[in-house]
Amino acid sequence: MPTKKVIKKVNKKNKRHVQQVNNVHRRKRKRRRIKKSVLIGFIAIVVAICAIIFVPRTIQNNKLKDLGYDSQTIKAIREQKLQKEIIDNQYYSDYLAQEILNDNLKEEYLDLYSVRTIETPLEEKDFLLYHRLLDKGYSRQQANNLFKQLKFYEITPLLVFDYQVLESTYIKDCLDHRDTNSETHFELTNDYYTEYENTIAVDDPTSSAMLVNKTYYLSSDYVPTNITELSVVYAAANVSLAQEAADAFIAWVDAGMDLGIRFYAASAYRPYSHQEELYNDYIASMGQEQADALSARPGFSEHQTGLTVDLASVNSNGISEYKDTNEYTWTSTNCQDYGWILRYPEGKTQITGYDFESWHYRYVGVEIAQAVVASNLTYDEYYCLYLKPWNDQSLAYSTNTNQTTTETTAPTTQDA
Ligand code: DAL
Ligand code: ZN
Repeated sequence: MPTKKVIKKVNKKNKRHVQQVNNVHRRKRKRRRIKKSVLIGFIAIVVAICAIIFVPRTIQNNKLKDLGYDSQTIKAIREQKLQKEIIDNQYYSDYLAQEILNDNLKEEYLDLYSVRTIETPLEEKDFLLYHRLLDKGYSRQQANNLFKQLKFYEITPLLVFDYQVLESTYIKDCLDHRDTNSETHFELTNDYYTEYENTIAVDDPTSSAMLVNKTYYLSSDYVPTNITELSVVYAAANVSLAQEAADAFIAWVDAGMDLGIRFYAASAYRPYSHQEELYNDYIASMGQEQADALSARPGFSEHQTGLTVDLASVNSNGISEYKDTNEYTWTSTNCQDYGWILRYPEGKTQITGYDFESWHYRYVGVEIAQAVVASNLTYDEYYCLYLKPWNDQSLAYSTNTNQTTTETTAPTTQDA
């Protein structure tokens, strides 16, 4: 029989053992609890990271979807990193979507793409025109508004016209004339060109590409350096042209003559003082408004450049009927191949500032003349779009297209 003392000892030992076992269990439970919380923490972090990455992405995707983009385009938007700008500015058009998808986008013009549709895509010349508008003082918002509603030929006159604070008035006028206006006929209800205001000296009077109009003028003492008198085979008596224009004129007349087309220069170079007399005579006979429609004020006449001729048909009685002659039909369709352009065409009076003059041709060189005719622009517009020096060099638009190459390689009197 174990004694009481022994029993007590055994109990004590058992108790210690139980306690030890309990301690081990407790430690194990504690370790398990720690492991579990670490795991939960880790999962929470992963979930948070996923949420940080994917929730905004999903929100953005939904916003892009709401704007109208499909999932394929949204993928392309992300690849091109355009999502923020598109969402912030709410840009969408079917054309913008198409160009993003085709990876065919000039990123700095998202706003411009967004105002055009697949039916009204942008061409290189549109980007140049856009920059020229900005250079003239139009805001991007105004330029976008113009490009949203108007066609190229409706916008180019603005390069010649005064800056329009309310472009919306101009847009409405163009839309009102949509049925009758075209690339070859442009007429509006209101006038947008204040003639002889904000006048500018000719950019480069040594260049055969110089623009002279009711804004750009030559000084009263400007005389072309290489004036040469034309033979009476080609001109009336005492008619002169700058040498380069004279050579081109002779080639033109000779080519016509081979086909039985016979024309000559009734008038060409006119010094400032001669133009002054002519203009004053017109005012005296018909008043200033009418005079301004057909005669340039002194300093503002192309005749002072020595690069201009008034044609007459050998078989007709004077330039007023020139438009009705075979000579007009031939010269007006072939002039560009000899370096000449019809300077004041029919249907463009509001842009040129002059009534149609079937007889008045300007020498600009073959390359530019052909480009002007192909463009269907008046020379005023063509010059302001492609040739004029930039007011703000930082806006100068450079491209590899042929037309703007012309801008940098325009022949001058010396090198053509
Ligand atoms: N007839 C043209 C416009 C001139 O006088 O120069
Ligand atoms: Zn003339």
